[in-house]
Amino acid sequence: MGYKILQKKELIPGQTSLLVIDAPQIAKKAQPGNFVILRIDEQGERVPLTIADKDREAGTITIVYLVVGKSTAQLNDLSEGDEILDVCGPLGKATHIEKQGTVICVGGGTGIAAMHHIAKGHHEAGNHVVAIIGARTEDLLLFQCELDGFCPEVLVATDDGSVGHKGFVTEVLQKRLEEDKTVSEVVAIGPVPMMEAVAKVTKPFGVKTTVSLNSIMVDGIGMCGACRCTVGGETKFACVDGPEFDGQKVDFGELKSRLWQFRGQEEKSMDHYKNGGCRCHGH
Ligand SMILES: Cc1cc2nc3c(=O)[nH]c(=O)nc-3n(C[C@H](O)[C@H](O)[C@H](O)COP(=O)(O)OP(=O)(O)OC[C@H]3O[C@@H](n4cnc5c(N)ncnc54)[C@H](O)[C@@H]3O)c2cc1C
Ligand code: FES
Repeated sequence: MGYKILQKKELIPGQTSLLVIDAPQIAKKAQPGNFVILRIDEQGERVPLTIADKDREAGTITIVYLVVGKSTAQLNDLSEGDEILDVCGPLGKATHIEKQGTVICVGGGTGIAAMHHIAKGHHEAGNHVVAIIGARTEDLLLFQCELDGFCPEVLVATDDGSVGHKGFVTEVLQKRLEEDKTVSEVVAIGPVPMMEAVAKVTKPFGVKTTVSLNSIMVDGIGMCGACRCTVGGETKFACVDGPEFDGQKVDFGELKSRLWQFRGQEEKSMDHYKNGGCRCHGH
């Protein structure tokens, strides 16, 4: 028996959706920062997705995904009531959360959903959480209402200025850090160039900076080496040593080049899926 999709909500038409999945055992243990690896069917590849929220009483977890290729497109073709063959988790180390004062949580694109769970954890630990969220335009902003529900400050940046600051989240962060010397940690989740830029901004302020790496993963349990990354000159496996690391120590250049290593195969696989290829090929 698989994992039933109890709710599906399209957040950005054709691009980003939220699924609430019946997974009581995972919901019981899930912590901010954890992720799952799911497989849609017997031939499916293993897809890592962050746990954006959980409801222990209802026994559910929430995931939010951006359709970028074959597996996420296939996931997006599922509906409420359908089942996902397997969902493995919670995986990865949970976010280190303690009462420490003001924490700024920066989220970009789909990363806002993942950041939401961490921001909630910091809020529940008694921290003053400042959320800084960004997207290309207002319609692409995710989870703003949810963050408004518990964050005393939600600062918004859009590339086109349709809402909030016109420009990048890093500009809003820079200003906030200049005005407020009490910030104890900055957490950033989003596209790799955004996390890299956040680490650059925080460096002169000497503020602890945590980033969540989305390295390519296969097994998710430290055996295959696919998620290898370099942090502080040492080799780490993002799935078991992370996915969160000190942003000042991550080799972002290596991370970016490793994320692109299967581009050719990924494009072929997506073309095949779009053209209605059979289930036994094109993975
Ligand atoms: C810990 C972790 C948490 C993640 N959380 C989320 C999330 O909450 N929401 C979300 O939309 N995405 C998340 N991702 C990225 C997501 O796993 C990829 O977008 C997805 O696997 C792409 O698969 P695809 O077949 O649709 O695309 P493909 O065409 O196969 O790949 C498109 C791009 O996605 C990345 N990718 C492909 N396969 C993997 C893989 N096995 N592991 C990681 N990245 C891959 C590569 O950069 C690749 O170039 C997360 C990744 C990691 C490692
Ligand atoms: S995904 Fe295999 S070692 Fe991390």
